[in-house]
Amino acid sequence: MCADCHSTNLRKNFDPATNTFKTTWSEIDVSCEACHGPASGHIEWANLPEGSRPADVNTGLVVRTRELDNRELLNVCARCHTRRSIMGDYTDDNEDMLNYMIPQLITQPFYHADGQILDEDYEYGSFTQSKMYEKAIKCSDCHDVHSVRTLKEDNQLCLKCHRPDIYDTPSHHFHKMENENAAVHLINKGKPEYKQGTGAQCVNCHMVGRFYMGNDYRRDHSFRIPRPDLTLGIGTPNACNDCHSDKTASWSQNYIEKWYGTKKRPHYGETFASANQGDPGAVSNLVMYAGNELVPLMVRATSVSLLGNYNDSISNKAVEKALSDPASLVRHSAVTSYHPVDAGSFEKMMLPLLNDPVRGIRTEAAIRLSQVPENMLSAPARKAMKAALKEYEEINLYVSDFAGGKYNLGIMYANAGDLDKAARSYEEALEIDGLFNRAKVNLATVYNQQGKNKEAEKLLREVLVENPEIEDINYSLALLLAEMGKIEESRKYFLKAVALMPENPRILYNLALLENTQGNYREAEKYILNALNREPGNYDFLLAATTFYLERGQAAKAAVYAKQIMEKYPDNPVGKQLLDAASK
Ligand code: HEC
Ligand code: HEC
Ligand code: HEC
Ligand code: HEC
Ligand code: HEC
Ligand code: HEC
Ligand code: HEC
Repeated sequence: MCADCHSTNLRKNFDPATNTFKTTWSEIDVSCEACHGPASGHIEWANLPEGSRPADVNTGLVVRTRELDNRELLNVCARCHTRRSIMGDYTDDNEDMLNYMIPQLITQPFYHADGQILDEDYEYGSFTQSKMYEKAIKCSDCHDVHSVRTLKEDNQLCLKCHRPDIYDTPSHHFHKMENENAAVHLINKGKPEYKQGTGAQCVNCHMVGRFYMGNDYRRDHSFRIPRPDLTLGIGTPNACNDCHSDKTASWSQNYIEKWYGTKKRPHYGETFASANQGDPGAVSNLVMYAGNELVPLMVRATSVSLLGNYNDSISNKAVEKALSDPASLVRHSAVTSYHPVDAGSFEKMMLPLLNDPVRGIRTEAAIRLSQVPENMLSAPARKAMKAALKEYEEINLYVSDFAGGKYNLGIMYANAGDLDKAARSYEEALEIDGLFNRAKVNLATVYNQQGKNKEAEKLLREVLVENPEIEDINYSLALLLAEMGKIEESRKYFLKAVALMPENPRILYNLALLENTQGNYREAEKYILNALNREPGNYDFLLAATTFYLERGQAAKAAVYAKQIMEKYPDNPVGKQLLDAASK
């Protein structure tokens, strides 16, 4: 879990067949070759007599570290300084980091809603939110890459670039300078104690930190401005109250307004917070962030992923556009959050991405498209999907020492119709992590397809004991019990699912079918009309209503719904056939 960032040239060599590791490494800590790559070519080059060395600007090294721009240098550091999921042993020939890892977006619970660090996030996700990164600043502008110390101490570091006369003065920060001759002023009644001058340190307002693992203080590399107003609005922390912990956020905000004026800066945190609540009002801003290349990379990619939580035409259009974004992180987000409409357009949208030069993207496109039955795909799509799925399998075998790897393999095999392998993968995931609910739910589905309904029932009930309020598990269990003929109980779980998910009329439709088979026609009618009321154009609902009335001998009512099918689905002969039947 730790070694690929804390050592050099790690080869995991995990064998999923035997559950054993034969891990190797060159050095136990982060050493030269972790950043510079293998040096044997360089040593050969250096051993040649002076004058006979080929004119190799990179002196025989695989990895270039000279004259890197900020994005290239970040790539050298990011593989360890990023919270991420990995896809294999690190190799040095990587143009794009999404070839070997998927960085964590700035979403909860890993970050605060405004993108401040919360869980252990390292630096990449923060730095790529910052204005400094946008303005080509790099890690090595502040850190010596070898000693990894900061190039200068205290405010001097920031004053390399920021004007001291503007910023390193009380007229900017309104606090006492360290060397100022002033009466002692304790804040928080002295607990904790802050020495004079701490309130004047740039990093204390612009790089607030948190403790990790108990004693490891790490600073937020998004270099943000203190925003007590966001604390008031969306509950995120702010630098001022980090120190002034006995004061309220309004107290701080009053001083901010007094010192800097009342002009309010917009912040993506506000949009993200309302998007987290599912507020449709957030969509227009998310669309704006997603499509604007001047917005920081992390903010764009996260916006695309939040747009995926909606399923309306405006959000969907923005996500579709992001599928061809030049930034791989944005494309990847778009693939994961894309809502397919039908198999045809799904294939059309995914086809270019199945051939994407970046591994993390083509494999994600492949696993998503594999939801579509293979025989509905064109030959080129099938071929590209299979090739990318092979890579997807390799990646997840590599991480199959974790439950998540096995779980992903389960999805892949299930989509391919290989139920035995799928069941085995989910079972193995559960052997590693017995509380992995999603694996249980998926395994139940596979068991059901295998005809092992008893086992499926047992799993779903297990999940519900721990989490009685998970909507779709109540629903799944209801469907399963209906199939097993346990009508009483099935009804109970359907009703619970309806109560938990009133916005999903499909449950009402299933309930209608259940009551119909039981001869409870009044109930069945009530539910199907209720479902239609919520989603008037739904084909399945219209069909169910028509056949219900036909079977009950109520031809006039049946005709009403048959006509609607004809109008809404003119290419489908069923509407006309049903109308004929109703007229007879
Ligand atoms: C994604 C790469 C990565 C992984 C995986 C990782 N670390 Fe770290 N670790 C880092 C980095 C980078 C730092 C430096 C602090 C930072 O970047 O914020 C660090 C710092 C530390 C520190 C404090 C610095 C020191 O050397 O005293 C400890 C202790 C530590 N890690 C332990 C662990 C342990 C234990 C694990 C496994 C459970 C682990 N790390 C997994 C990258 C990683
Ligand atoms: C954390 C990553 C990292 C580690 C570890 C590291 N280096 Fe570097 N090194 C760099 C980067 C990045 C540069 C380019 C610095 C710049 O241009 O600002 C560099 C530059 C150099 C240079 C200057 C030559 C050139 O190509 O610019 C030499 C020589 C060098 N490193 C040797 C070493 C040796 C020897 C070790 C091990 C003792 C080592 N480095 C460890 C990242 C690293
Ligand atoms: C192979 C993984 C790896 C790479 C690549 C890497 N680091 Fe680190 N870095 C670490 C780990 C692990 C730590 C924690 C200290 C330790 O255990 O060595 C660390 C610590 C640091 C620290 C903090 C040192 C301190 O005082 O606590 C800085 C700064 C740093 N790295 C900068 C960089 C920069 C800049 C680059 C890119 C040029 C880079 N690192 C590349 C793994 C890496
Ligand atoms: C190598 C140059 C450089 C160094 C060193 C530097 N900055 Fe910056 N900083 C910039 C640039 C460039 C910008 C963007 C200015 C702009 O576009 O308005 C910036 C912007 C900022 C902003 C504005 C952010 C925003 O969202 O509006 C803050 C705050 C900031 N820096 C704080 C710091 C602090 C704190 C330090 C020291 C730890 C520091 N900077 C060190 C170059 C630097
Ligand atoms: C007590 C907190 C505090 C300290 C200390 C502090 N700043 Fe700021 N800084 C702020 C606030 C608040 C703002 C936003 C001001 C505004 O809204 O006009 C800000 C804004 C900035 C900006 C962005 C200006 C802009 O117009 O976008 C930069 C750059 C900056 N500070 C750099 C620094 C540097 C460099 C230091 C250290 C020498 C420093 N700050 C110390 C609170 C602080
Ligand atoms: C604008 C300056 C600046 C830039 C750019 C910058 N850092 Fe830092 N970094 C700092 C300062 C200041 C500290 C705090 C140092 C201290 O407390 O002694 C720090 C601390 C760290 C630490 C130690 C843990 C912590 O958070 O205190 C790590 C690791 C680190 N930086 C990695 C990076 C990496 C990787 C990059 C590039 C993605 C980077 N830094 C870019 C200024 C910068
Ligand atoms: C690193 C801790 C720290 C941070 C961050 C900080 N302060 Fe302070 N603040 C102090 C200390 C220490 C004093 C007392 C000495 C002085 O004035 O510098 C103080 C004094 C004050 C005072 C005057 C004394 C009082 O208690 O009435 C005000 C007002 C104030 N701070 C507001 C703010 C605001 C607003 C912010 C955010 C923009 C902020 N501070 C950020 C530490 C901090």
